[in-house]
Amino acid sequence: MPATIVLGAQWGDEGKGRVTDHFAESSDYVVRYQGGNNAGHTIVVGDQKLALSLIPSGVLYPHCVPVIGSGCVVDPKVLIAEMEMVAGRGIDPSRLRISANAHLIMPYHRKLDAVMERYLGNNQIGTTKRGIGPAYTDKYSRTGIRVQDLYDPGIFRKKVETALDDKNRLLTRVYNQLPMDPGIIADEYLRYADRLLPHVADTSLLLWEALRADQRVLLEGAQGTLLDIDHGTYPFVTSSNPTAGGALVGAGIGPGEIDGVIGVAKAYISRVGTGPFPTELSDDLGNRMVELGGEFGTVTGRRRRCGWLDLVALRYAVRVNGITQLFVTKLDILSHFPKLQIAVAYEVDGEKFTDFPRQQSVLYHCRPVYEDLAGWNSDISAVRRYQDLPLAARAYLEFIEEHTGVKVGWVSVGPERHQLIGR
Ligand code: GDP
Ligand code: IMO
Ligand code: MG
Repeated sequence: MPATIVLGAQWGDEGKGRVTDHFAESSDYVVRYQGGNNAGHTIVVGDQKLALSLIPSGVLYPHCVPVIGSGCVVDPKVLIAEMEMVAGRGIDPSRLRISANAHLIMPYHRKLDAVMERYLGNNQIGTTKRGIGPAYTDKYSRTGIRVQDLYDPGIFRKKVETALDDKNRLLTRVYNQLPMDPGIIADEYLRYADRLLPHVADTSLLLWEALRADQRVLLEGAQGTLLDIDHGTYPFVTSSNPTAGGALVGAGIGPGEIDGVIGVAKAYISRVGTGPFPTELSDDLGNRMVELGGEFGTVTGRRRRCGWLDLVALRYAVRVNGITQLFVTKLDILSHFPKLQIAVAYEVDGEKFTDFPRQQSVLYHCRPVYEDLAGWNSDISAVRRYQDLPLAARAYLEFIEEHTGVKVGWVSVGPERHQLIGR
């Protein structure tokens, strides 16, 4: 049986957690393929709210095996705390599988993330300070330490020492920090090893066997297309590939296994951290979106910047991911706005861009070209069938379809598991 990818089509926080939770019901495996505990995925079931940062959103279903793929970076301390958190909520984390090839986030990565941001001053990226960028930097410079290294204590200690030779010079001489002790770090991490051992696996092999046995695999992206290191608004991006290609690399499966790419897009758009944002609303309207949408970061509590839906960016996401269907979330939030706008193009110095511009400076200087759409002025949170949505709400969704060429297969009208409409 094939695998399906669920990924963010904007700047993250599109509602991937709730979407993954929905499809997890009919999946055997749910795989996080990139990122780390910079992600915050919220799932609401009844009056229970669960925020996950690293454990895949499939963990709620007892029949589902949650997998952390090799494309992820794992902070073992955070992961163990999260396993304990879910266990405390009556959810069994024992099925969790972690790729032996995933890289570890080390204490010096967290430290470097924080101090490097501070030194950037006005050019800050606004990272989550979880050590994500420095951990991926080490991975690509081939000085990273992987989950499997925990199981050879001698080698592990050596690797930490070698890494700190270099990192301590950086911390003390460049960033004016105290050096870190390799022995203390190694002792701490080796204590995590036993706890994680039952979960460590060759996850690519696991998925290969699952797919051969006709089981359903769901690949859950973190962050979003515009935060992709290759395809996002660089350098205001994360250090991994949330796009569809990253799903294959990060899970260790081939393209022939994929039967669909579900792009998750909010009915409006948000971004947390710095970087260009053409449809940002820096006025009362934007503030209302933040308040009504509860747009505060799951991980850092930061206020998210909000704005109207950007179809130039969404078309781009459709293209770079090969999105086959869209899942539009938070349509209910737009019920509060009597008049709606959607950006269909950007304009700068008389030049019009309907495709995402090649030159990123355009994103800073452009004026979005909006189309006005009617609001629906009614509560849609209890609607469960597409035909019961107000005409204006359907027109809004059909406008998205017309301009992206992709079907909106699902719409959610509230955070709760059942507040969604499938078509
Ligand atoms: P993710 O990072 O993509 O998983 O998204 P987050 O969980 O960080 O942010 C999405 C937020 O919107 C969460 O608080 C969800 O509970 C909430 N949410 C998701 N879908 C809907 C929806 O259709 N309506 C409303 N009102 N809230 C939603
Ligand atoms: P989910 O999975 C929204 C942003 C940060 C910052 C940039 C780089 O919940 O959608 P990093 O710590 O990754 O080096 O920060 O990326 N960012 C996110 N924004 N949702 C996320 O995850 C994000 N993860 C990282 O705010 O701008
Ligand atoms: Mg989030």
